[in-house]
Amino acid sequence: MKDKLKMVPEHIAIIMDGNGRWAKRKGLPRIAGHREGLKAVRAVVKAARKYGVKYLTLYSFSTENWKRPEDEVRFLFHLMEERLRKEGQQLHKNNVKVSFIGKKDGLPAKLVKTMGCVERHTFKNTGLTLIFAINYGSRQEITDAVKRIISSGEKDITEDLIEKNLYTVGIPAPDLIIRTSGEKRLSNFLLWQAAYAELYFTHTLWPDFKEDEFLKALFDYQRRKRRFGGLSG
Ligand code: FPP
Repeated sequence: MKDKLKMVPEHIAIIMDGNGRWAKRKGLPRIAGHREGLKAVRAVVKAARKYGVKYLTLYSFSTENWKRPEDEVRFLFHLMEERLRKEGQQLHKNNVKVSFIGKKDGLPAKLVKTMGCVERHTFKNTGLTLIFAINYGSRQEITDAVKRIISSGEKDITEDLIEKNLYTVGIPAPDLIIRTSGEKRLSNFLLWQAAYAELYFTHTLWPDFKEDEFLKALFDYQRRKRRFGGLSG
């Protein structure tokens, strides 16, 4: 199977959608969907390592997700903190470098502390770079970049300068963006970085997105002809 993959995307970014609907279909509360979604996170991290993906970005909480019921938001942060604290060591053993994009403001202090610990602990790892987008919004990111450039006094505005001021500095742009659950939009995720990304949409709900579904996306990617605005060779 693995040898049939000629092009493995260097960076895959995923909009993990459909936890709530998965739970509803099973007659379970929404939080059960998030718990199950975490199993898919583990499966996809494992698969990304197995197939040689270098960067994996997971949209875990958007700046718009604050509009959800307070209980659900609190549960999500609790789940993230607990899992990062408990599974950080295993990620480290697997040579995974964990990093975060998004705004720390507004997040529970305990979560921010754990994020910092895991980030520092795994900083020197050289395997998969696993990026969690938490309290992330692309418009916010671009706005922050503009503010930073203005306050630096720099007048020579280039694409490169903007890129260097995004949260994703040093991370290559995603080659493939996956969205689960049938929705076909980017929802304020990596808008600048997605300029030439291939997009893959599946009806599979996030909790059901495991290695086989990940492989389907990789196989679909094999058929894409990436031209970056040029002509095909
Ligand atoms: C989308 O489903 C899912 C989320 C907003 C949360 C995803 C987060 C995790 C699985 C945890 C990530 C873990 C760490 C360690 C950072 P939805 O609730 O939007 O589903 P719906 O559209 O069916 O309602």
